[in-house]
Amino acid sequence: MISIDKISAYDGQEVRFGAWLFNKRSSGKIQFLQLRDGTGFIQGVMVKAEVTEAAWEAAKSLTQESSLYVTGTVRKDDRAPGGYELTVTDVDPIQIADEYPITKKEHGVEFLMDHRHLWLRQPRQNAIMKIRSQIIFAVHQFFHQEGFYKIDPPILTPTSAEGTTNLFHTKYFDEDAYLSQSGQLYMEAAAMAMGKVYSFGPTFRAEKSKTRRHLIEFWMIEPEMAFCTHEENLEVQERFVEFVVQSVLQNCRAELEVLERDISKLEQVKAPFPRITYDEAIERLHEKGFDIPWGEDFGAPHETAISEDYDRPVFITHYPTKIKAFYMQPDSERPEVVKCADLIAPEGYGEIIGGSERITDPELMLERMKAEKLDLVAYQWYQDLRQYGSVPHSGFGLGLERTISWICGIDHVREAIPFPRLLNRLYP
Ligand code: 4AD
Ligand code: MG
Repeated sequence: MISIDKISAYDGQEVRFGAWLFNKRSSGKIQFLQLRDGTGFIQGVMVKAEVTEAAWEAAKSLTQESSLYVTGTVRKDDRAPGGYELTVTDVDPIQIADEYPITKKEHGVEFLMDHRHLWLRQPRQNAIMKIRSQIIFAVHQFFHQEGFYKIDPPILTPTSAEGTTNLFHTKYFDEDAYLSQSGQLYMEAAAMAMGKVYSFGPTFRAEKSKTRRHLIEFWMIEPEMAFCTHEENLEVQERFVEFVVQSVLQNCRAELEVLERDISKLEQVKAPFPRITYDEAIERLHEKGFDIPWGEDFGAPHETAISEDYDRPVFITHYPTKIKAFYMQPDSERPEVVKCADLIAPEGYGEIIGGSERITDPELMLERMKAEKLDLVAYQWYQDLRQYGSVPHSGFGLGLERTISWICGIDHVREAIPFPRLLNRLYP
């Protein structure tokens, strides 16, 4: 099958392929057909004097987003956006599209979101989805080459991993169940079985907050490593994020250009990444005029203020124990903080990774679960991991859509996923 992205292989040849009419201009004697097939965009030029009457009329009948088979000769043209143009000799309409709702004029976001199934066809959205696809591929490439096994945790779960405030409840026959907030607890079991593992799946949080960074359904990559310390965990994270960014830079130049992304900002994303402690971050925030007491969690403005001091992602480590999840390993010298890190993206994109070393000691784990009032019966299997050959281990979770937003330079996560689920949106 011939596709626009591979059209250079057909220079000088006559080709026929399926496409949609993205846009059309006509001078009376020449019709300029902007064609797209998902893989790319190309301009087709039809000259009235050189084609049959039927072909000319067929081209004239095409409305925006009509589908067709087009026949023409591929010509190299340095002025054309993709470097090639098509001298069209015939068009064969498949369906003449109704009046298309998305036009060249500015549309409001809610309108575009209502038409997300069509909005995806626009060049910007197309570019974002291609970068998303490249990132997904790079994630698998990275963990495969680092010797990790891909493990799939369940999506329907009887318990929560990240607290109960944003759980998505559902019935599981006669029992209660929740959509997975994180595969982590299962990935810990998998790490004890397989050593180094990662998951990559949808996660769900009934977030009541309506922000640029929150989706109800998002995708998370969660590696978990046996015998891995906090420090080693950070090294995997910075290598991983560098790999993903560099992979996009190498493979998605054209898409980054469509998005008008400042590539120099991405080129700086090289390991090692700076590390500061929560204590240092608090001090820094005070210097910058924030009035945040020690012990409080950071919000978006705090993360942005910290990230401003760096040209690449920055780790904030050792958060207060009381604001982090029950499974995190307290620092042996200072049990009021845990061996954890959030990775904050540059340019104000906020937290893209949350990770930590996990508690090894069975007694301490039990104590923490009791303090958090967790149902010990429901978590017995998790406690078993500490009772049968417990080892130091660490892992993290990278949010796919936040990472895409940052790399693409877009200002809301809703454009980083094909069909976003938001507080006010379950359609389309
Ligand atoms: O920091 P979080 O909550 O960490 C965990 O879930 C751990 N169990 C991960 C682990 O250690 N295995 O979430 C991890 C990341 C965040 O840093 C963020 O990038 C993303 O998931 N994230 C969201 N992305 C979009 N919408 C939301 N509502 C998100 N909540 C978290
Ligand atoms: Mg977090």
